[in-house]
Order: sequence, then C-alpha cells, then structure tokens
Amino acid sequence: MAKITFFGGKMSTPEVLTVDMTSTPQSLTEIVREQGLPLYWRCGHGTCGACAVHLHFQNRQASFSVILSNKEKNVMLRHQLISKEAHAEEQIVQTNEIWRLACHVYPDQLDDLLVTW
Ligand code: FES
Repeated sequence: MAKITFFGGKMSTPEVLTVDMTSTPQSLTEIVREQGLPLYWRCGHGTCGACAVHLHFQNRQASFSVILSNKEKNVMLRHQLISKEAHAEEQIVQTNEIWRLACHVYPDQLDDLLVTW
C-alpha cells in the first residue's frame, strides 16, 4: 500500500490516504479527483500543466534520478516549470524542490509520499 499525504491550497490539515496501487495504478490526479481533494487540475490527462505539485518521498533518498515522459517535460517547459537544460536531459534529479505534474505521477506501491502545492 502506498501512503500518500496531500497538503496544499486551502487545506487546513493534511489528508493522509493509504492507496492500494496493485490492482489499478492511479495517477495522483485520479486519486485527487476520486477523493475530492482541493488540488487544482483542469485537463486530467497531462497536457494543461495545471496540476503542478512538489513530491516529497519519505522513504527514499533525498534525491534520485527519474525519467520523465517527453509529454510531461514539454508541458512543464511550456509553463516554465523546468529549465531548457533540464528539458534536454534524459533523466532529471527528483528532489522536493522540482515541479511534477500530478497527472503523470503514478506512485509506487511502497511509496510513502507527501504531495504539496
Ligand atoms: S490537469 Fe492538466 S496536466 Fe494535470
């Protein structure tokens, strides 16, 4: 089970969810929609850039490399959420400070994740 905590916007307290990702992997946006959490999103399929979040992986090292899809990188570049240099890289370093699009993030079953915005 993935333990995912959401906190941002007009939330006064964090929302902690335990999500079974084994049967049907869900994106963070799908989880937010299902739970009615106040993360702003618009398209729901990764093209508008409205669902930008910071990810804090609680049970992984502070930074690690991830491969983002070209679609996610292109949308983030269009919204100036990553630099041109980062866009050109095959992998980027995942830290708490970088932006990700919730539509493109499918938490791992073992993740303990804080999602902020
Ligand atoms: S809601 Fe449009 S990219 Fe996530």
